[in-house]
Amino acid sequence: MAEKKEITICLGSSCFARGNNNNLKFIQEYLKQRNLMDSVNFKGKLCSKLCNEGPVIIIDGQVYKEVNRIKLEDILDKAFGN
Ligand code: FES
Repeated sequence: MAEKKEITICLGSSCFARGNNNNLKFIQEYLKQRNLMDSVNFKGKLCSKLCNEGPVIIIDGQVYKEVNRIKLEDILDKAFGN
């Protein structure tokens, strides 16, 4: 079985308000629809000290900044090889 991906979502108040509230929902839907929930370890993180560039999402150590819905879909497609 492939190694689990680690998705860390910044849930500090700045990132959360800037879009990670919706990004979190989108990621969960994305994974559910593709039966990938078991392939992922989810982590929340308090402020990542990049508030000005938020919302921040980190996948396997790679930091993504200013993540919006469109970027997010692209990031997930790449991460999961779609
Ligand atoms: S709240 Fe996410 S970087 Fe500060």
